Amino acid sequence: MKRNNRFTTAFCSNREEVLFPNEMPFTCQIKGLNLAQKSFLVYEAMGSKYLVYDNNWGDDLDIIRSTIFRKNHLVMLDAGCGPGWHLEQCAKLREFDHLIGIDYSPQMLKESHQRLANFITMNRIQLLQKNILNLRLPPASADVIVCFNNTLGNLLEADMIGASSARENGIAELKKVLRRGGYLIISVLNRDTFSQNNGYGTRVLRVDLERSNIEKGDFVVLYKTADGWECPYFSHWFNQNEVLNLLTKFGMEVIELLKRKKRLIVIARKK
Ligand SMILES: C[S@@+](CC[C@H](N)C(=O)[O-])C[C@H]1O[C@@H](n2cnc3c(N)ncnc32)[C@H](O)[C@@H]1O
Repeated sequence: MKRNNRFTTAFCSNREEVLFPNEMPFTCQIKGLNLAQKSFLVYEAMGSKYLVYDNNWGDDLDIIRSTIFRKNHLVMLDAGCGPGWHLEQCAKLREFDHLIGIDYSPQMLKESHQRLANFITMNRIQLLQKNILNLRLPPASADVIVCFNNTLGNLLEADMIGASSARENGIAELKKVLRRGGYLIISVLNRDTFSQNNGYGTRVLRVDLERSNIEKGDFVVLYKTADGWECPYFSHWFNQNEVLNLLTKFGMEVIELLKRKKRLIVIARKK
């Protein structure tokens, strides 16, 4: 979908599609929207700057490398690929025959497209606009799925109250697309490392403490746009047992859990 179309379609839930008129000022666009729709607009506004602004961002390429060591002809799916950093690095690995990046944000996909143009021309990478909550990809078609930098913690169908079921739906969707014996590698934010000083606190990102529930790890984060408007998006920070239980509930076998800076990284296999 092109940015300059009259409308941007936000697949904010698997039940509804919401149209945003692009020519409206950002401030008008967010009125009357639920938190899932506002979060979508933040990704649209942030684009490639996400890699600069979010100081919780992490590069866990070595974990992908060690998981695929001595395997070949693999198909990888990057769920919520954002501006495509991991896709770019993974496309250089000969273990992967084909890589698919999905994201629901056209702006993020545009950034990915610029970054990955050569690989796309070579048919090595394919980018698709899709909602993780309703993937509609062929079942058992991926050998490795990565879902990095708290994309799982960003999932939302409408408002914060239903966030845990959105995470469950997300894992169920990813599992469908993974082949038996395939690997799901996720990185999420570790609630034990959160403090009000270091959670976000950059020039453009801050936590809205009044609307957040620190104990549950549910945060409303405010993103300051170029015109100074602060738009909220959702970020859930996990504790270790929570993320392990979520994966085992869906029949995934947890191979390893690592802690890095503010992240928990889990490698799991579909039984
Ligand atoms: C925190 S960023 C992580 C980006 C990337 N995984 C990385 O490691 O750099 C979260 C990404 O997930 C996307 N996203 C959030 N909810 C989504 C959903 N329901 N379906 C598809 N993409 C989603 C956002 O547009 C954004 O690009």
